[in-house]
Amino acid sequence: MVTSSTTITLTAEVPKPKVVSTSLNYYLDPSKGGHTSYQIGVSDYYRRKFDPHTVEIQDIRGQEDQFKLDLHGFQHVKHASAEKDFNDKDEIKGTVYPETAQLIKNVTGATRVHVFSHITRKDSREEAERSVREDAAMQDGNAPTTKVVPARFIHVDFSETGSEQILRDNFDHEEGEKLTKTRWAIINVWRPIKPVSKDPLAICDARTARDEDLMPVVSYLPPKGSGQYADVSGGEHFELYYKRFCPDEQWYFADRMEPKEVLMIKIYDSLRDGKTARRCPHTAFTNASTEADATRESIEVRCLVFFEDQKM
Ligand code: OGA
Ligand code: FE
Repeated sequence: MVTSSTTITLTAEVPKPKVVSTSLNYYLDPSKGGHTSYQIGVSDYYRRKFDPHTVEIQDIRGQEDQFKLDLHGFQHVKHASAEKDFNDKDEIKGTVYPETAQLIKNVTGATRVHVFSHITRKDSREEAERSVREDAAMQDGNAPTTKVVPARFIHVDFSETGSEQILRDNFDHEEGEKLTKTRWAIINVWRPIKPVSKDPLAICDARTARDEDLMPVVSYLPPKGSGQYADVSGGEHFELYYKRFCPDEQWYFADRMEPKEVLMIKIYDSLRDGKTARRCPHTAFTNASTEADATRESIEVRCLVFFEDQKM
């Protein structure tokens, strides 16, 4: 006979996945105050308007291995970096770029990886928001700000057009032609610099994000040599996607990520076979229970990834 106490014990052994309810920033139609282009590195960047919706974000802790880059569009991987403070740009290029390229080869089977940029985020968003609100100089929408804070709007870093532009910016014509005859992709590798509790990163199951909800937006960069954002892409602007709200989408995060683990995020994939994940919308989000914690510090490393032994 199965007693009720047996049932209770079994139920207790399978903890329910933790879910955080929060508001995410979606694409807002320009007729309602939204925008289809913006300038990075100026105070107006912090004043952009979005369409906020409350969603539930599920913690993947305990089932990290279930999520795959080619199916869900993201993958959690345990990987320690030789770099510790991530302060020196050249040191990051010398250490983090090659180890990230190798990591991507190991995980995806890519034959060639070219790391083309990175962003470190270490600034307080409250401070950035306060200066934009209070600082007299910041009342001018074009006043420069160099703060690099969590990106709290749903996006894919480069649209299809933006991704093709990145490839052209990084290779000469002949090599670009050759590399686009076989499968290629853009993958971001996101890593905490310190353990993350405030402002974690949420990733959307690529299968639940519809193409028709991805909205092209143009991002204008500050002049070259004027800080981190200027180096995000070779040109003066690039196209990315925002996302329109859709109630069917499924969001995830990994609670309290540490520097010895990364999230790989698919930005683009040339493969159109109807089943391989081609892009993964993502965003930083506010977790009410960690709002008072220390400023989040992280790095994202952006990589052009080539599968020269695979068809498009
Ligand atoms: C990324 C990204 C946002 C953040 O890694 O592509 O969008 O807040 N990160 O770290
Ligand atoms: Fe991003």
